[in-house]
Amino acid sequence: MSQIDHSQKIPNNVDLSSDRKLQRALEKWLPNFISWWTEMGPEGFQTKDVYLRTAISADSQGWAHFDYVKMPDYRWGIFLADPVKDRRIPCGDDYGKPVWQEIPGEHRNTLRRIIVTQGDTEPASVEQQRLLGQTCPSLYDLRNLFQVNVEEGRHLWAMVYLLHSYFGRDGREEAEALLERRSGDDNNPRILGAFNAPCDDWLSFFMFTFFTDRDGKYQLLALSESAFDPLSRTTRFMLTEEAHHMFVGETGILRVLDRTCQVMKDNPGKSARELGVIDLETIQRALNFWYSISLDLFGGEVSSNAASYFAAGLKGRAKEAQYEDHVCLDQVFEMDKIEGGKLSQEEVPLRNAMNEVLRTEYTEDCQRGVNKWNRMIQEHGVDFVLTLPSRRFNRQIGLYAGLYFTPEGSLIGREEWEAKRDTWLPTDTDRAYVKSLMNRPVYEPGKMANWIAAPKQGIKGRPVDFEYVRLD
Ligand SMILES: [Fe+2]
Ligand SMILES: [Fe+2]
Repeated sequence: MSQIDHSQKIPNNVDLSSDRKLQRALEKWLPNFISWWTEMGPEGFQTKDVYLRTAISADSQGWAHFDYVKMPDYRWGIFLADPVKDRRIPCGDDYGKPVWQEIPGEHRNTLRRIIVTQGDTEPASVEQQRLLGQTCPSLYDLRNLFQVNVEEGRHLWAMVYLLHSYFGRDGREEAEALLERRSGDDNNPRILGAFNAPCDDWLSFFMFTFFTDRDGKYQLLALSESAFDPLSRTTRFMLTEEAHHMFVGETGILRVLDRTCQVMKDNPGKSARELGVIDLETIQRALNFWYSISLDLFGGEVSSNAASYFAAGLKGRAKEAQYEDHVCLDQVFEMDKIEGGKLSQEEVPLRNAMNEVLRTEYTEDCQRGVNKWNRMIQEHGVDFVLTLPSRRFNRQIGLYAGLYFTPEGSLIGREEWEAKRDTWLPTDTDRAYVKSLMNRPVYEPGKMANWIAAPKQGIKGRPVDFEYVRLD
C-alpha cells in the first residue's frame, strides 16, 4: 500500500485506477493545475533542471528519490500515510469509536470548509514566493525554494483529492476555485490573512517558512487526529514534507545571523548596513511581523467553532495521545479578558479554548527555534537577544484585535502605538534596505550572497557547491 505507483498519469498510493470516475475527474483537473502552476509558479525557472526530491513511498523511512526535474514535470500526486489498523476516534464526544471512512452527512459542510481552508494556503504560498528565484542568495537556496514550492503544490493535490473523492460536485467546484483565488488579489484573495501578505524578499521567505509553515504543521497535526480517516492519513504524510520547509526557515535565519555577527565582529565600529548585512533590529522586526500574523491563523481565542470541531472529532489537539482526558467536558482554561481597558483573567470551558491550546504548543515550538538563533548570536559574543513578542502584539483576529499592545504585552493607546510602531514592525526603509541587498541574485555554484553564511552541508550528501539548479 505504501508504495507509490508512478506509472500512472497521477502518481498515487490509493489505487486510483480502480475508481475510473474519480480518476477521470482528477485527470481533468490536472491540466488546470498545470496552467495555474505555469502562470503563478516560480517565474523564470520553469524550463530549468532542479535537483528535487519526489516521494516514492509513503512510509517514514526512505520515502524520497532525488534527481533533476523540470518543475512542470514534477510528479505531483496523491500520497496517503498507511492506514492505522483498527484506528479509533482520538477525541471528542465519540472518543473510542471506530474512525469514519466516509463523511457523516451532518459534518459534510464543516469538513469541506476545513479542507478548503487548508487547501487554499498551499497554492497561496507558491504565489507569494513566485518572484524570489530572481533574488536568490545561492543555488542551494534556490533549490530549497523550489522544493518548498513543488511540495506546496502537492499539498494542494492532497486536499483536492479529498474534495473530489468525498464531496461530489461541490468538491469539484471548490477544487476549481482553489486555482482561481490569488494571493493578495483585491477581488478574489486567498482565504487567510497571512497568505495574502507579500513575501517578496528572502528575509520574509525564511520567516515565512519558519513561522507560517509551522502554523501549517500545527494545523496538520490537529487534522491528523481527525475522525475522518482519509483526512488523517493525508495530513500525516503532508507533515513529513512540512518538516523540510521549517528547516529551510530555521537554518536560513541561522545563516543570516551567523553572517551578520561575523561581519560585524570583523569590522568593529561600522554598522551592519554600512557593511551590507542585515542588522539584528531589522531581523527582530521581521520576526515580530511574521510571528504575529501567523498567530492569527489559529483563529479566535474563545471559539464555539473550535469547540464543535473538537466535540465532533473533526479536529483534535496536536498529538492528542499526550493528553489524558480526550473528551474535555469538565476542564477549564485560564484565558485573558479585556474589560474597560484592563486585562484580567477568566476561566472558559476547555473545548472553547482549543485554538488557544494549539497556539500555545505552536508558541513553544517557535521558542525552541528562536533559542537556537540566540545561541548563534551568543557564540559570536554579540550582546543581543531575539524575542518572540507577546501573543497579544499586533493581532488582527480574536480577543486582541483592534487593541494595541507592546511586544511585552502591555495594553497601550493608539497614540503610543503610532509613535513606536516603527521600532516594532518592519518599516518601508527596512524593506527597501533588505531588497537592495538582494537585487542581484547569486547563481554561481557554491557562492553565497554577502548577507548570508554558507550552509553547513548540502542536500542529500551533495556538496554545498553542487549545481542544484542548472541554469543553462
Ligand atoms: Fe503545505
Ligand atoms: Fe509548507
